[in-house]
Amino acid sequence: MSFEVSVFAPASVSNVACGFDVFGFAISGLGDLVRVRRSSDSGPSLVISDVTGDDGLLPREPDRNTAGRAAAAAMKALGIDFGIELEIHKQMPISSGLGSSAASAAGAAAAVAILARNESEKSIDRCQLINSALDGEQLASGGRHADNVAPSLLGGFVLVRSLDPVPDVIEIHPPSWLSCALILPDLSIDTRGARERLGDTVSLSSAIKQWANTATLSLALERGDADMARRALVDHIAEPVRKDSVPGFEDVQKAALSAGALGCSLSGSGPALFALCRDETEDLSETKSVATAMSEALLRGGGCDSRPLATRVATRGAAVDLDLS
Ligand code: HSE
Repeated sequence: MSFEVSVFAPASVSNVACGFDVFGFAISGLGDLVRVRRSSDSGPSLVISDVTGDDGLLPREPDRNTAGRAAAAAMKALGIDFGIELEIHKQMPISSGLGSSAASAAGAAAAVAILARNESEKSIDRCQLINSALDGEQLASGGRHADNVAPSLLGGFVLVRSLDPVPDVIEIHPPSWLSCALILPDLSIDTRGARERLGDTVSLSSAIKQWANTATLSLALERGDADMARRALVDHIAEPVRKDSVPGFEDVQKAALSAGALGCSLSGSGPALFALCRDETEDLSETKSVATAMSEALLRGGGCDSRPLATRVATRGAAVDLDLS
């Protein structure tokens, strides 16, 4: 009997201010649902049979679609010799800065791996799975960075130490009080263009400040030290170049900090903005107040509507049902 596999891949916040291309965490409540099943084709083939929630924006040809690319890479890594049908159900906005393409890619790679295990007892390791998702993500972003695909696959808060020669992704254990206020402005930003704007070089003085903050944030989260996290949540590399792509960015940042957030910056390449908070309430009431303050500041300062959200780090990633070696 042929199984159908449905996988939910969470959205993610990447960079987390100081960790350009290296920090990312999965968030609860938003993401993509990806479904795969064995098709009647006898040889290895891949068809995208349904896409919903994308307003017709995503390519339907597998090799031009991030989920299709990731699924094909996972099929190749697994040596799959049968046909697969893939469905993508977007449950989050596209080009929002919340790792939409990464969620599709992570969901597709994980779903193919689960199908292969069920159908033919073939398995994939963690590095192969991350690399498969990266093949998809690279199509959208133009660069190879795992700060969205790794948390989307694995859940939690991660540090991507290196991708070369193989992905070295380290789990960080944030304190239970950590929460995240988000706003999703009515704008869209193309990650590829946003990466090109950064150029290839940074000054040594910026690099020193950045790696000091990156190391400090890792320690602050592991120790549960909110004041240390507050000092580290500063981006000297990407934010100075990218912040003008969200009119009113500085008003939002100030509003978040005044409302009690530990730090606020662009989520990935934006336009979503995130703020990390210390919130021990069950209903995230303090985080919701921060998100509302951010949304109001964006309207006042940038004339732009946005959707406020309050969330926590999601512990379950797309690969949660795979025993990854
Ligand atoms: N680290 C990447 C960037 C994330 O900022 O370009 C893109 O989602």
